[in-house]
Amino acid sequence: MKGKFITIEGPDGAGKTTQVRKISDYLKSKGFNVLVTREPGGTALGEKLREVLLTSEGESPVPEAEALIYAASRAQLVKKVIEPALDDGFIILCDRFVDSSLAYQGWARGLGIEKLADINGWFLKGVWPDLTIVLDIDPAQSLKRISGKKDRLESEALEFHRKVREGFLKLSEIYPDRIKVVDASQSPHEIFKTILFELKKSGIITL
Ligand code: TYD
Repeated sequence: MKGKFITIEGPDGAGKTTQVRKISDYLKSKGFNVLVTREPGGTALGEKLREVLLTSEGESPVPEAEALIYAASRAQLVKKVIEPALDDGFIILCDRFVDSSLAYQGWARGLGIEKLADINGWFLKGVWPDLTIVLDIDPAQSLKRISGKKDRLESEALEFHRKVREGFLKLSEIYPDRIKVVDASQSPHEIFKTILFELKKSGIITL
């Protein structure tokens, strides 16, 4: 049986992790087999690459290297976790996926959305998400929600985060059937209700 692949995207501090947990709890309560994973990470190798990507210490990767390290983590996750779980009929919820690379590296870093779609398309093949929820919020608001020490990407200037947001909105125009934008300035409960509506509208769940 073929499963379904849902990704949750958005700028830093948009509340993705809370929503992934809410969606997962809901789907499990309805009897679905759910697998939750995240990027960068989700495999042993991916978690090591995550450390390399997010540390603020030492030499920063140039944008091209950054794009390829995210892609390496993704390739590992796709082959080791996502493809097998789809074959087993799971609903996969992934906290960030390819659209983060298109928005952060492709648009905000200026490498080009098409270039990043090409690089990732090489190994994704048919494994593009069935549905992508973009939690949309003004980064001036979302960055305030981040507590503790900021990682390398979170420490970027507000202007960079504005470009990331712009990138996600552009992607929703490029892939209107797959990407749905949800207003993330609402309360977590309101956001969840809107996501549920999108899940039902997309036909992924019928309950
Ligand atoms: P994540 O831990 O999801 O950040 P947060 O939970 O703070 O939103 O992701 C780590 C960072 O990596 C985040 O700043 C976005 C960035 N990122 C990219 O730049 N490109 C990518 O392809 C991915 C998956 C993430």
